[in-house]
Amino acid sequence: MKPIATVILAAGEGKRMHSDLPKVCHLLDGEALVVHCLKLAHALKSRKNVVVLSGRPQKAKQTRGVIAAAKLPTQPAFAIQKKPKGTGDAVRSAAGVLKSFSGTVLILYGDVPMLSPEMIREFLEFHHDERAVVSLISVNLENPTGYGRIIRATSGALQRIVEEKDASSTEKRLTEINSGIYAVDRKFLFDALAKIKPHNVQKEYYLTDIVAIARDLQARISVWQAPKYRAAELLGVNSQKDLAVLENYSRQRRLDQLMMQGVKILDPSTTVVGPHCRVEAGAMLFANVHLLGNTTVKKNSKIGPFAVLTDVQVGESVTVKPFCVLDQVVMENDASCGPFAHLRPGSVLKKNAKVGNFVEMKKSVLGEGAKASHLSYIGDAKVGARANIGAGTITCNYDGFSKYLTTIGEDAFIGSDTQLVAPVRVGRGAIVGAGTTVTKNVPDDALALSRSQQVNKKDWARRWRKQASGKK
Ligand code: UD1
Ligand code: MG
Repeated sequence: MKPIATVILAAGEGKRMHSDLPKVCHLLDGEALVVHCLKLAHALKSRKNVVVLSGRPQKAKQTRGVIAAAKLPTQPAFAIQKKPKGTGDAVRSAAGVLKSFSGTVLILYGDVPMLSPEMIREFLEFHHDERAVVSLISVNLENPTGYGRIIRATSGALQRIVEEKDASSTEKRLTEINSGIYAVDRKFLFDALAKIKPHNVQKEYYLTDIVAIARDLQARISVWQAPKYRAAELLGVNSQKDLAVLENYSRQRRLDQLMMQGVKILDPSTTVVGPHCRVEAGAMLFANVHLLGNTTVKKNSKIGPFAVLTDVQVGESVTVKPFCVLDQVVMENDASCGPFAHLRPGSVLKKNAKVGNFVEMKKSVLGEGAKASHLSYIGDAKVGARANIGAGTITCNYDGFSKYLTTIGEDAFIGSDTQLVAPVRVGRGAIVGAGTTVTKNVPDDALALSRSQQVNKKDWARRWRKQASGKK
């Protein structure tokens, strides 16, 4: 196969998005549309990648910024299209960068982000085998509105492409559309682009006109018709609605793959699993679960309804009960949390540890088999194995300036409604009586108590009630 260079068009106005953000910087699966295209180019081992940017400095800066932030293996070259005079003019602005390149130019529209390397490889092989100067991908869409239509001669040969805005009502009824992906011989491409004219409703230089030019020159044009099941890969984003359709499609495609691999997903229509998450066979996701960032869920774990997990490592046989929010958390095998637990960055639940309802944790380790079953705040703490944290326990870890550490030894028992004023340490096997404010270290196996003596006043309540009701 001939070497390829890739040109990605990203200079359009994107008017139909009604947004200040350049269209190609909008996110699909958390990644800018243009970055999806660049990752595809890398996967195809494209020799040279050129992104055509808008001549508007602010727009170009935003797009460059998004690309730099994506930390790609190599940065692309950039070309500037001074004014958005159409897709043909946009490709023309990459001529200088590709002057010394000899081979096939793969043209991608920055707003077509779901292409798989497998499909494009197949297309490039087809282009090569056909010995064509221009090849493009077409597909039949049930709803072709907005796309350029493929016009064929009675022989079936491709004649030209007509844009929706320029199409007659008969042409509009055609369902075979131009996907906007082309493989073109570099020399032919720039020669043809020099000839195109803005003779159309939009007064733009259409890239699609190179097809008619090739036909006039009797150069070989070939069309690769994508199979129907690939149609979604070829969808473009022109509006916020299109973006939502693609987001949904991509999400469903990932869920389908997970289910094929043995993950149980109770309600795929409400489940979100981000592109960088891993879920093992045998895991179970209830309705409305969101797995985001680099979350991993191992086998036999159950993630309850309405749980949102971002960058969480879930071990085997873990239970996350309904309505939990976890961010940068590690849950080792057999651990459980919730319902209604909020586990913030740096929380670690060792094997078999348990966090119950209305517990907040931050930067804390709950040792093997340790429990905090109800209503607690555990921040900057290290809790030993098998320790029990009673209901309403609070680590007072912050004095308004700095954070301090609380250490609780193995097998310690912290009574309900305890405040642990950090920095402080409760020894191994120690007991803290309910209602205690711990301000000093508690030695191993000691009892800490800080409540005042209880006084019972005999009959006091009855007398008070009588007196008070008499006043009425
Ligand atoms: C284009 C095709 C259409 C095809 C559809 C597929 C043309 C004339 N039409 O239409 O046949 O069915 O894509 O999705 O090519 N851009 C620039 N500079 C410009 C104009 C556009 O860089 O002056 C970029 C845009 O940023 C975008 C891409 O080119 O990434 C396509 O432009 P867009 O305006 O979306 O074209 P469509 O109307 O979708
Ligand atoms: Mg488009």
